[in-house]
Amino acid sequence: MAPSGKTYGIADLKKHTTDKSCWLVVHGKVYDVTEFLEEHPGGYDIILTSTGKDATQDFEEIGHSNSAKKLLEKYVIGEFEGGDSAPAVAKVAPQSANAAKQQPAKSAATRTFHVILPLLILALALALNFYMMSQKKSA
Ligand code: HEM
Repeated sequence: MAPSGKTYGIADLKKHTTDKSCWLVVHGKVYDVTEFLEEHPGGYDIILTSTGKDATQDFEEIGHSNSAKKLLEKYVIGEFEGGDSAPAVAKVAPQSANAAKQQPAKSAATRTFHVILPLLILALALALNFYMMSQKKSA
C-alpha cells in the first residue's frame, strides 16, 4: 500500500508532466519524481517523455538496475487507478522463461540446419561440376 493511500488517475498524471511537477506511473504506483529529475543518470528530459501515461514499459525497457528500482520507492505518493500494468509483463515473463528454456534446443537445431544446408548445396554443386567435366571429357 502506498503510504498516503491515495489513488490517482490518468487525468491527475496529465497535470504533472513538467520539470516543475513531474509524476510517473511505474508498476501501478504513482511517483512524484520532480526532485529526482536533475539527478537522473539518463537525463531529465527522457523522464518527461514518460509522463502523463503509464511509464512501466519505458522504465522496464531500459533495463534499470535493482538500485534504480529501489530508488523509486523514495518518491511514491500513491496508487494508480489503472492498476499495475505489470501483469502484462508478468504474463510475458513466464512465457519468455519457457521460451528461454525451449530456445537452446530450437536454436541449436536451427543452427545445425543453417550450417548443413549451405554445405549440402555446395556438395551438390561440386558433384554437378564433376559430372559435367566428366561428360565433357568423354564427349
Ligand atoms: C523515477 C523513475 C526512474 C528512476 C528512479 C531511474 C533511475 C535510473 C538510474 C539509477 C539509472 C542509472 C542506471 C541504473 O542504475 O539502472 C538510470 C538510467 C537510465 N534511465 Fe532511468 N530512472 C527512472 C525513470 C526512467 C524513465 C521513465 C526512463 C525512460 C523513459 C529512463 C531512462 C533511462 C536511461 C535511458 C538510462 C540510461 C542512461 C545511460 O546509460 O546513459 N529512466 N535511471
